[in-house]
Amino acid sequence: MADELGTVSIGFLGMGIMGSPMAQNLIKAGCDVTVWNRTKSKCDPLVGLGAKYKSSPEEVTATCDLTFAMLADPESAIDVACGKNGAIFGISSGKGYVDVSTVDVASSILISKQIKDTGALFLEAPVSGSKKPAEDGQLIFLTAGDKPLYEKAAPFLDIMGKSKFYLGEVGNGAAMKLVVNMIMGSMMASFAEGILLSQKVGLDPNVLVEVVSQGAINAPMYSLKGPSMIKSVYPTAFPLKHQQKDMRLALGLAESVSQSTPIAAAANELYKVAKSYGLSDEDFSAVIEALKAAKSREA
Ligand SMILES: NC(=O)c1ccc[n+]([C@@H]2O[C@H](COP(=O)([O-])OP(=O)(O)OC[C@H]3O[C@@H](n4cnc5c(N)ncnc54)[C@H](OP(=O)(O)O)[C@@H]3O)[C@@H](O)[C@H]2O)c1
Repeated sequence: MADELGTVSIGFLGMGIMGSPMAQNLIKAGCDVTVWNRTKSKCDPLVGLGAKYKSSPEEVTATCDLTFAMLADPESAIDVACGKNGAIFGISSGKGYVDVSTVDVASSILISKQIKDTGALFLEAPVSGSKKPAEDGQLIFLTAGDKPLYEKAAPFLDIMGKSKFYLGEVGNGAAMKLVVNMIMGSMMASFAEGILLSQKVGLDPNVLVEVVSQGAINAPMYSLKGPSMIKSVYPTAFPLKHQQKDMRLALGLAESVSQSTPIAAAANELYKVAKSYGLSDEDFSAVIEALKAAKSREA
């Protein structure tokens, strides 16, 4: 199997919290991987594991059959794909570009068009799952775009993830991801309110987490994040700035079809407050800080 996988050269752009473990899993599975990151030093551990390094997205796509991109937001995804020394300048017919970043529908369509104008194929494949699922190869891919590229990428998606959905036209994967993260962002904001309310009325919030975990509203996220939120520590798995970006993009998606989303709109305001407290790079569970009184935050 490793020999078979090694015949397709894989590029990977973006060595952040998600991109690094995803690329690492490909390397460990025996794939021929070439990496690039804006901050070069983040490529060093991957090179240590056997990856090749190229100094621009253009060079990566010029030398690889299939290139994955895991960038922060729409701006960086567009810039890496279409900007100076971007992926479109190295890619060509017979190759494929798989964007696994979380972006809005319009940005994904724009990147798709630019890639396809070169004769190459495009697949959007944002992921559900966080740092740990990325490390464990347990991500869920929400793909859309060129079906032949989906089929070519499938063995590699299977290394990095536990399941994959093919959703049709470009934009459907981006939209699905935004709906999922809109729900998650609202759930987390509501959970934060519950923890603080339980404390204020004299309950033990640890018992609240236990009660929630045994009932119908249980979600792995609550048991995973609750104990650290109670201790006011937020080790970053999903940066709060990315959760707020996803709320913003989901609200834009809702607006585009005149769908009312009052809960998500309220939750988004909390993430914005948390950002204004300097919590952008903390885990998104730090949204609980936005609900604490200013005095107790300083204490
Ligand atoms: N973390 C999660 O739990 C999770 C889960 C599902 C989906 N996602 C999504 O996956 C994407 C990546 O998330 P992450 O957690 O890995 O984020 P991250 O750790 O912040 O990494 C972001 C990556 O984007 C690069 N980047 C940022 N701005 C750039 C620019 N202007 N030009 C070129 N590169 C740029 C960064 O490069 P530098 O190293 O140079 O800064 C880094 O490689 C996001 O769209 C996020 O919403 C994240």
